[in-house]
Amino acid sequence: RRSKQLEGRKVLITSGPTQEPIDDVRFVSNRSSGKMGAALARAALLMGAEVTVVSGPARAALPLQANIVHVRTAQEMLEAGLAHCADANLIIGAAAVADYRPAVRHRGKIRRSAEPTTLELHPNPDIIAEIAKAAPDAITVGFAAEPSRSLDAARDKLARKGLYAIAANDVSRDGIGFDADQNSLRLITLDSPVVFDSGLMSKLGCALWLLDRVAK
Ligand code: PMT
Repeated sequence: RRSKQLEGRKVLITSGPTQEPIDDVRFVSNRSSGKMGAALARAALLMGAEVTVVSGPARAALPLQANIVHVRTAQEMLEAGLAHCADANLIIGAAAVADYRPAVRHRGKIRRSAEPTTLELHPNPDIIAEIAKAAPDAITVGFAAEPSRSLDAARDKLARKGLYAIAANDVSRDGIGFDADQNSLRLITLDSPVVFDSGLMSKLGCALWLLDRVAK
């Protein structure tokens, strides 16, 4: 029965890293592979949903049955997310958005010099928070990549970003989180004091577990 829990529902997923150009050959980014977002897309399709993925430049293959929107920067991810959120029932922020972008994008290639140099960074928009505001009727679920087991920062993000739920993964643990094949999620929601724990599983297993919990 679980296989069709999301029949007739539209699911929007942000996935992968963003890349923030320094010049034409260099960028600021992070270690996200896009595997978690791809697993969520696969899980949502298995559960019968119509799926759109707004994906940064990631190595993981996305399922062909999903509607895929390729972006590079956080600004582009925000615009694509806002353009596709209006009719979404469920929105999941699995992307590892670069929190800062270089203040200036240099054309061409910055020349090497013997002197130390500094890179000025400006904060990027909070994409999942902006989308949650623009789609108040959708259920919005964020991820929290935390460097410890504490859930304090995840609870803070849940409230600050205006989400229904947030899935915390402890990215200081080996073998889960960024670029790993497995994950271990702890889900907190607005309407329950219970912390739901997925245990250690493949990312597809975690994705099915998460969507099942949220669909309930
Ligand atoms: O891609 P993989 O290699 O499979 O790795 C999976 C993952 C570790 C990237 C994934 O499981 C995960 O934790 N994704 C969220 C990563 C993150 O950047 O978390 P955060 O705690 O910084 O952000 C909290 C939430 O706000 C997330 O839903 C994030 O998508 C969103 N966010 C953050 C900053 C920003 N400027 N815009 C956002 O939308």
